[in-house]
Amino acid sequence: MGGLIPDSFIEELLARVDIVEVIERRVPLKRAGREFQACCPFHDEKTPSFTVSPQKQFYHCFGCGEHGSAIRFLMNFEGLEFVDAIEDLARQAGLEVPREAVRAARPSADLYAVLESASVFYQNQLKNSPEAIDYLKKRGLSGEISRYFEIGYAPPGWDKLSKDLAPDDHRKSLLKRGGMLSEGKSGEYDKFRHRIMFPIHDRRGRVIGFGGRALDDDGPKYLNSPETELFHKGRELYGLYLARKSQARLDRILVVEGYMDVVALAQFGFRNCVATLGTATTGDQAELLFRASDEVIYCFDGDRAGRKAAWRALEATLPRLREGRQARFLFLPDGEDPDTMVRKLGEEKFSIELDKAQPLSGFFFDHFTEAVDMASMDGRAKLVDQARPLMEKIPAGVFRDMMFSRLALLAQHRIEDRSGSRESQSKTRPATKKPVQQRTPMRMALAHLVQNPALAATAGNLDAFDDCDIAGFEIYRELIDFCLKSPNMTTAQLLELWNDHPAQSHLNTLATWQLPGEEKRLEQEFRDAVTGLELQWTEARIARMPKIVDLGQEERKNLLALQQLRQQLIGVLQGEEN
Ligand code: UTP
Ligand code: MN
Repeated sequence: MGGLIPDSFIEELLARVDIVEVIERRVPLKRAGREFQACCPFHDEKTPSFTVSPQKQFYHCFGCGEHGSAIRFLMNFEGLEFVDAIEDLARQAGLEVPREAVRAARPSADLYAVLESASVFYQNQLKNSPEAIDYLKKRGLSGEISRYFEIGYAPPGWDKLSKDLAPDDHRKSLLKRGGMLSEGKSGEYDKFRHRIMFPIHDRRGRVIGFGGRALDDDGPKYLNSPETELFHKGRELYGLYLARKSQARLDRILVVEGYMDVVALAQFGFRNCVATLGTATTGDQAELLFRASDEVIYCFDGDRAGRKAAWRALEATLPRLREGRQARFLFLPDGEDPDTMVRKLGEEKFSIELDKAQPLSGFFFDHFTEAVDMASMDGRAKLVDQARPLMEKIPAGVFRDMMFSRLALLAQHRIEDRSGSRESQSKTRPATKKPVQQRTPMRMALAHLVQNPALAATAGNLDAFDDCDIAGFEIYRELIDFCLKSPNMTTAQLLELWNDHPAQSHLNTLATWQLPGEEKRLEQEFRDAVTGLELQWTEARIARMPKIVDLGQEERKNLLALQQLRQQLIGVLQGEEN
């Protein structure tokens, strides 16, 4: 990874691959007119609202709002990072991914290699250490599960790893960049010594860091790799790679706190477990979890610290609870963790515990109702004040509506969902992610351009828009320029190339708007939107003119011209309707 991928390559890649093919290999598609349909792979549904457009090279689900190019599809479906999705597609298309920053990219490959060697080194050391093997046995780990997780052992001594892996300065600097060395007064030394080593894999199975557990009570119980260019605690989950490998799409995914918990659960048959890396669950992690499964169960200690961790997880989860996704919480008895619990209960009983996990809604309202006096009006008002801001983070949809109804019931008072989802839901369609935006001429013009970049050629020149300050006009101008330069671009290509643009998410939304389908009408619709824009701009200029009595000769002429233009534009628009 690393190294920027040039835009020209992304454009070419998306021209070479066919999104229909990419998706069809994973989700069976049915032709429906000019598009293809399926039941959405990103949420549960019985009637298909997932569509793939070969023209736009774009997919969109009307149910959950998920949409994008072939690249986005791979990222969402396979849980890949951007660069990894690009590499996969390139391989399919027989293209080589060029790197603008080759220099930055190369050492990265070396860096992965050195961490992989470290992992192999630790695994070999384990074989030669009766003490370490004995420790793992005492903890109840089977040899099979140790090998499955590639568990190893860092021997005592200050430079065992460095001596073995880094005879030269270059390799040593790699070890350092990989976070494997600590710095002391008399130089660098092995960070992990006399510890059981858990390699942490990224989503493609590459080693990016380690967790190391002390064998005795010396020093901190666990040491983790520091943040490095490959390893970011908040964006990784221990065990995710193996969990996904065991099953492409998991029925549910279990989140626990410790390395040992993941390993023990796996040994008892629960291969769908991951651990946060000693930090509070982040939004990035919540997103990763839902990409792996629609049902996430957080399993924490029942003590104060565990409840606090669960609450942080809830906060990270709320904004990602779109249709079809659910989160639950399982609190363990005092003094237990999943490792001890599953060993005590065995697979079957632990499984029953999991089924009893509390739904997020229950945990949410209990948290608040326990803290206030629900018998008093003041207490109930407090509940509303505290709960509402968090509830507003939930995406529009049935679940959000139900949460608001529940709040109203508890508060014994009508509650309005202010940033309401109501108007966003037509009767025929399930909830969309965001409230529907008004179809202003600007948004219509932009939507047409994004969905059909070739239309830019019919936009006419922009002279009429001198000094125009209608919101979005700069984007419109930029988009026209962009589309004129490559008129054969698809929606998917355009959006990927605008990926870093501030207007990117706005354009993405517009790309999912339903426009009248008929080809013949498209150009006229776009022209109307542009005429509407011009009318809006003309009216704005008229409104800004001083009172007529204050106008000079020249200005009166201008005003008259503007008024005539307005009539003319209205005529054009009305002529269209008749
Ligand atoms: P726990 O203290 O619950 O440990 O820490 P554990 O996982 O049950 O480990 P065992 O069973 O005693 O071996 C949970 C997680 O918190 C992080 C680690 O990621 C650990 O797995 N942690 C804990 C640290 O990073 N440093 C520590 O000193 C302790
Ligand atoms: Mn434990």
